[in-house]
Amino acid sequence: MKVFEANITYSVIDFFEKSKELSFEDINEKLKSISGINTFFKRQYEFDELTNTISIQKKILKEPDRSEYGDFQTNKNLSDKICGLLKKNNINPEIIVEPTCGKGNFIISSIRTFNKIKYIYGIEIYKPYVWETKFQILDYFLNNPKINPPEIDIFHYDVFDFNFKTITEKHKEQKILILGNPPWVTNSKLSSLGSNNLPHKSNFKNHNGFDAITGKGNFDIGEYISIKLISVFSEFNGHFAFLVKNSVVKNILLEQNKTKYRISNIRQYNIDAKKEFNVSVNACLFLCSFNNQIETTINEYDFYSEKLINKYGWCDNKFVANLTLYQKSKKIDGKFPFEWRQGLKHDASKVMELEKINGHYINNKKETVDLEEDLVFGLLKSSDLKGGVIDKSRKYTIVTQTKVGQATNYIKYKYPKTYEYLSKNIDFFTKRKSTIYKGKPLFSIFGIGDYSFKPFKVAISGMYKTTLFSLVKPDNNKPIMLDDTCYFIGFDTLIEAKITSYLLNKDITQNFIKAIAFKDAKRMITKDLLMRIDLKNIIEETNFEELHKEFGYISIDTWLVYKKNLVKEHSIINMQLDLFETNTLHTTQHIHNGG
Ligand SMILES: C[S@@+](CC[C@H](N)C(=O)[O-])C[C@H]1O[C@@H](n2cnc3c(N)ncnc32)[C@H](O)[C@@H]1O
Repeated sequence: MKVFEANITYSVIDFFEKSKELSFEDINEKLKSISGINTFFKRQYEFDELTNTISIQKKILKEPDRSEYGDFQTNKNLSDKICGLLKKNNINPEIIVEPTCGKGNFIISSIRTFNKIKYIYGIEIYKPYVWETKFQILDYFLNNPKINPPEIDIFHYDVFDFNFKTITEKHKEQKILILGNPPWVTNSKLSSLGSNNLPHKSNFKNHNGFDAITGKGNFDIGEYISIKLISVFSEFNGHFAFLVKNSVVKNILLEQNKTKYRISNIRQYNIDAKKEFNVSVNACLFLCSFNNQIETTINEYDFYSEKLINKYGWCDNKFVANLTLYQKSKKIDGKFPFEWRQGLKHDASKVMELEKINGHYINNKKETVDLEEDLVFGLLKSSDLKGGVIDKSRKYTIVTQTKVGQATNYIKYKYPKTYEYLSKNIDFFTKRKSTIYKGKPLFSIFGIGDYSFKPFKVAISGMYKTTLFSLVKPDNNKPIMLDDTCYFIGFDTLIEAKITSYLLNKDITQNFIKAIAFKDAKRMITKDLLMRIDLKNIIEETNFEELHKEFGYISIDTWLVYKKNLVKEHSIINMQLDLFETNTLHTTQHIHNGG
């Protein structure tokens, strides 16, 4: 049954029915002595309304849409397990603070688990949940009359307005546990819902670490609440245990090098959010101790087996995803000698992406398209790059420019069929939303330059979880293009590309990438990451015999020239053009198994 839109148990109903003759003051006193809750009813009418509602059968209301409150209530089994884990780790708090307590499952689990609690604070914005928390607590103590209740305040309040300093002032010397599961919602979701369940801007900006959050544009409300509580409580005694998205933990740790909160023994226990909350997101229990040292690394465990699976965080002023692999490979953390490029971008896949079926080009609208061959190039996407050698593509695209901003009216005269096709589909180009296309020639593309037309490429997917590099060779003497989800470097000769791809797929490089790439990032591989690979140091770790074995045959001259050209201190911009002057390498190219 529901009262005040909150679930209520039969023992609580029974209790209120038996107490309905009491005055408002007497019932509050009785409730305090049983459950520890201060001012259970704020006014007489609340008590009257409750007893009336109980006596008439209350109709069950449909739950309103609560998306703006990031409402994912923790099930009792999970809150019990979490409190059990804390207890196992010798955490036995005197003060519990549940800043967005929902229906109160964490509060109940903490009462059940810890035996030294003196005071519990619960805060919740949604009134029915405030009631449900109170009913749950009352139910617990009605059924466990021998247990002495702590003092409890459940505030119907907005966490963004709550002054947590009142708690720290009152409980300076006591062991505090900040426990809970803040809302799982981002500010952009809130703005799409027209919700203002957000911190007030002024408070927000004064906050340590906030700059970083606002800088990202989209941030999680749970991240803000976590930072707010850590900044208030980390100087005191105690612990922090929050269920949050993994990205929240990562962001907090990323800032920890600057914010330097007094948090230590930082741990992340990964949960199965699909099973626990029916949401597909990487989430965990974020646990740390307050008021010890300032630590900047985290141990990552599986919540269910408690097995250590990874350690990540800061090492030598670098933020890394796997500290063990980083230790093994950090000597190659430096600067890549060429500029990694992103592939081409057109934002008109319906007409710009083609497949070749029985010798005919078919676009994404399933139309057969008649085009001159010159501007049509093979196209690889992230999903095509899984390592190995590629010289064919599933897809094709029309390359309308050789560099960004180039005039496109030449197509009309040189390639009339292509021009007719593009013109017929002009709407797909004019309606492109991105501002990069504004004021640019018709049918403009981006991510195009001399480098796109290099015959040989070494490429990697930005979107998929593979860290392997593919060697891309021309198809029928035509360079294959990559789309903007891929990164690549272009070469004039096959041997340069082959050696580079070998060096990038070596264990040390692969370990390094795995050490610095965060698997849960939307783009696991980024340009910044690739630019950190120090090819010069990989070369130092590579001997000629190894290459010889790999390639079957390679002349020592080829290897020496490759090395010489690479170690030269060129500026990155000039490097792409200067290095590997075709002539030099062509004369020393003695590869037998050209691949
Ligand atoms: C993810 S749920 C978790 C609830 C509870 N902590 C638990 O673990 O079951 C988040 C809770 O935050 C509450 N909430 C959302 N915005 C809030 C705000 N501004 N102030 C206080 N509580 C809020 C929601 O109503 C919801 O109950």
